[in-house]
Order: sequence, then structure tokens, then C-alpha cells
Amino acid sequence: MLDNKLGITNQVEFVKMEERISKTYAKRLYDSGGIKNLEFGTYKGLAAVHKYVFYDIYDFAGKTRILNISKENFRFAPSMHLEVSLDHIGSMPQSTIEEIVAKYVEMNIAHPFRDGNGRSARIWLDLILKKELRKVVDWNQINKDDYLSAMERSPVNDLEIRFLISNALNSSIDDL
Ligand SMILES: Nc1ncnc2c1ncn2[C@@H]1O[C@H](COP(=O)(O)OP(=O)(O)OP(=O)(O)O)[C@@H](O)[C@H]1O
Ligand SMILES: [Mg+2]
Repeated sequence: MLDNKLGITNQVEFVKMEERISKTYAKRLYDSGGIKNLEFGTYKGLAAVHKYVFYDIYDFAGKTRILNISKENFRFAPSMHLEVSLDHIGSMPQSTIEEIVAKYVEMNIAHPFRDGNGRSARIWLDLILKKELRKVVDWNQINKDDYLSAMERSPVNDLEIRFLISNALNSSIDDL
């Protein structure tokens, strides 16, 4: 269990609270309109999302990790090269769905935060899609297990995640 600001030491309790608080702030980021002011497609924008969503929970909210991390044998980008990688990702093109998914996959490989990468990067992805294509992802249409296996596969081949996202796109109703 990671150090947290909530003063909770029980793992089960912490997981529950962490999920509830991050959801509340994620929703507030949209409802308050604050999301419209964020830079889209850059690490700066992603860090702002992470900071907003996890500020009450973690000291590392919005801060680039300094440790190397891995999941299921996949090693995310070495922390030593993160700054360069993140600059590079921010400059990747984002005008088609192919380019946007490729950029999202690279950001997932970078995995800039100690935790909360998935939740903040999905918001970041949504923002790019809305601004560039006037589309939104209906995440309810994407099965969680399918998403996770597509993301596990994505460093090698992004076809599966692109297929899942493309099929869950709806036209945006607002003009963010
Ligand atoms: N084996 C893997 N290889 C590549 N990417 C992975 C792997 N396992 C998980 N991921 C990605 O990492 C994300 C989880 O990272 P992290 O735990 O930092 O984020 P989270 O917001 O806490 O979790 P979640 O995305 O499950 O809500 C997943 O959403 C997925 O995109
Ligand atoms: Mg996590």
C-alpha cells in the first residue's frame, strides 16, 4: 500500500476511499469546466489532471515518478529518461484516431506517476479526442478485461486498443 494523505492504514478501506475520492474529483473536473482550461496532448495537461484528481490522496499528485516501475513483467519507461520521453510524447501528432491512440499508448509506456496513470491518462485521452475530433469515448462500451489485455498488448501492437476505442466513439454534444 502506498503512503497516503488520508491517514488510512487498512488496505481494503484505502482502496475504497481512493476510488471514491478520485471519482468525485474526476467528475468535478468536468462539471466545473476546469477541464477546458487544460493544455491538451501534453504532459503538462496530464500532470494537471493527475494533480486535480489525486491531490487529497497522494503527496505525489501531479509529480513525475523517480522510481522505476513495472506491471505483469512489463517495465515502464526508465525514470532516468522520463523527462525526455514526456517532451517527445507531447510533440507527437494527434490529428487522426491512429495518431491519437499511438500517442496514448506511448504515454502509457511512460507511466509518469507512481499510481493513477490509467485514470488520469483516460481523461487526457478524452480531452484530445474532444478537441481534435469532437468525439468522446463511451467507456461503458469497453469491457474492462478487454481494455486491460489490449493495453498489455499495446507496447507491441496497438491494433486491439485502437479497435476498442474506435468502436466506442460517440460524437461530442458540447464544443469543448
Ligand atoms: N502489463 C501491462 N503493460 C502495459 N500497460 C499496462 C499493463 N498493465 C496495466 N497497464 C496500464 O496501466 C494502467 C494502470 O496504471 P495505474 O495503476 O498507474 O493506473 P490506475 O488509474 O491506478 O488504474 P486503472 O487504469 O486500472 O484505473 C492500466 O489502465 C493500463 O493502461
Ligand atoms: Mg493503480
